[in-house]
Amino acid sequence: MRKNKLIVGNWKMAPLSATEATAIFAGIRTTTRKLRKTDAVLCPPFLYAGAFAKKISGKRLSVGVQDVFWKDEGAYTGEISPRMLASTGVTHVIVGHSERRALGETDEAVSRKTEAALRADITPIICVGESERDEQGFYVKRIEEQLRSAFSFVSKKELSRTVIAYEPVWAIGARAVRAALPRDVEEVAILIKKIMASMFGREAANVPPILYGGSVDAKNCASFLTEGGADGLLVGRASLDPKQFAAILRVADTLPRAPKRLP
Ligand code: PGA
Repeated sequence: MRKNKLIVGNWKMAPLSATEATAIFAGIRTTTRKLRKTDAVLCPPFLYAGAFAKKISGKRLSVGVQDVFWKDEGAYTGEISPRMLASTGVTHVIVGHSERRALGETDEAVSRKTEAALRADITPIICVGESERDEQGFYVKRIEEQLRSAFSFVSKKELSRTVIAYEPVWAIGARAVRAALPRDVEEVAILIKKIMASMFGREAANVPPILYGGSVDAKNCASFLTEGGADGLLVGRASLDPKQFAAILRVADTLPRAPKRLP
């Protein structure tokens, strides 16, 4: 079986007004109507997500958010539950993004959020990635730790409702050293599949799509999807520019569907 490519936009804490957000969303929505074999998920700040989810038309675009709490309901000031998200039509949530981990989110919190999202029928986009690439290969251990912990409460049956994003911290955001190279992405995609195979079996390891994220733009996006072997992309800055994001979506849509690979 071949899967559609998955392109996720992470708007982070931008844009600053609902008017601007609505205009960017409208531009992206128009592009997604023409997609044939690429699915797009836009993850705006919470404040805009519910309104966007109501305006979705066509099956190629969905709305996600960038965080969630792990309880369904209760006295948790400031938190948002996965069931609330589901009730507004949000279908995806990014969990364990490195910018949230930098604010104190632990591996355990990521695993609880993953479990809670699945319980509410929301697809978790689970981010893993090392802060730096050391020559001794400790980064491999860190990715393994993050992955094993995030999936500790996930059953084999639920794997089809999960997405994994490899986001090396050194490649993300305005302070990025550089984007990863396609061969870095390929190496880690294979590593992720091996770890998933040891947890869930060889066939199941291929079920969750593996995305790459970190300084993706219209120029470099094709290389991650071809040489890098990624099933999709997690795009930060470039997803706030409707023209650039549209270009990424169009490039993804012209490439062949990602083949299924065994580890
Ligand atoms: P970037 O961010 O594309 O701006 O590097 C990616 C991310 O943080 O998800």
